[in-house]
Amino acid sequence: MPSVASSALRVPQSRIRELADIAMKMDDVLKLYFGESNIPTPEYIKRAAAKALEEGYTFYTENAGLPGLRQDLADYYRRMQDVDLDPRSEIVVTASGVQALNVTIRCVLNPGDEAVVLTPAWPNSAANIWMDNAIPMEIPLLLRGDHYAVDFDSLEAAVTPRTRLLVYTSPSNPLGWVATEDEQEKLLEFSRRYNLWLLADEVYERLYYRSTELGVPAPSILRKASRDDAVIVAQSFSKTYCMTGWRIGWLVARRDVGQKATQLNEFIISHPASFIQRAAQTALAQGEEELRSMIVRLRENRDFCLAALRRMPGVTVPSPDGAFYLFPKIEGLTDSFAFCRKLLEETHVGLAPGVAFGAGGEGSVRICYAAEQEILEQAMERLDGFLSRG
Ligand SMILES: Cc1ncc(COP(=O)(O)O)c(C=O)c1O
Repeated sequence: MPSVASSALRVPQSRIRELADIAMKMDDVLKLYFGESNIPTPEYIKRAAAKALEEGYTFYTENAGLPGLRQDLADYYRRMQDVDLDPRSEIVVTASGVQALNVTIRCVLNPGDEAVVLTPAWPNSAANIWMDNAIPMEIPLLLRGDHYAVDFDSLEAAVTPRTRLLVYTSPSNPLGWVATEDEQEKLLEFSRRYNLWLLADEVYERLYYRSTELGVPAPSILRKASRDDAVIVAQSFSKTYCMTGWRIGWLVARRDVGQKATQLNEFIISHPASFIQRAAQTALAQGEEELRSMIVRLRENRDFCLAALRRMPGVTVPSPDGAFYLFPKIEGLTDSFAFCRKLLEETHVGLAPGVAFGAGGEGSVRICYAAEQEILEQAMERLDGFLSRG
């Protein structure tokens, strides 16, 4: 009997999905386990997609995406990050952020290579590393006071002659941690010193709260790196424009990886849907106002949940600067999956277990606060009651 390939068998099941599968069989669950806002895609983006269909955007496009969209993305980087990119060679439109991770990791790892991943982290980059017959080495961020920080000593200790890649996510899912400029410089210097590819997942770039000015993005690693550095950025329209179901994102990479990812995409997805690429152009052109109101709402939600959690017994919550998650640590918790399951079954509150996010995640739970205030109020009340009952 032929069997499933060992590289596929090694890819672990998502423990967020495992929890969600239980929740989906139940009624009236307060769903805070997935990483998406419950705001539907704005009307102007939907209209742009419908218009594109009418205009005949139903044919194949270039593998790297529509030249107009790549140009718009280059303009966006100049506007938002003060970074100049060549839209013909350094930007590739992908069918989502996760597809950007998939194709770039495929471009830089050989079977048996090692990749260092800063955790706790959304499990998909480690899973993609496994899928390429390579090995993820998870290095947890350190909690200093109420902020996380990169543990450079452990990073040094983790590098071996087989290490080829360093992956980090900023703003982070699940921590809300945002790499400081100093950390970005050190990560870049570290990657140069050990000849590593540096892959930054920046899909939450626009959900950033450290700046007093609304809508200012978290600083991209592209500001620090030169275009000849071995740096890759994975990006997405999902979170910024409430477009999770549309499956569209992009990558920025050194020209050789940009070219290779473009070519490989011919054999994977060819390119994202033509009319969705047109809608993405409209999102970039018209999205700023809605985005700013979403940030205001998310910041209020974050502050509300932070305050509620900090009043609960045995709970400590680091302060997040970006994304839409809180990652409270619960005193004495050693099995976050069992905790989340019991919480779900007894109170109908659905959270993601910290264990799903790799090394450093056990003992915590992830709360996605991109929900209506009433849902968050009920969820916090029930969680408080659950914890108080012990
Ligand atoms: C850190 C991170 N990267 C990438 C993605 C992928 O987003 P998408 O594939 O919807 O573009 C997500 C989605 O949750 C995420 O949390």
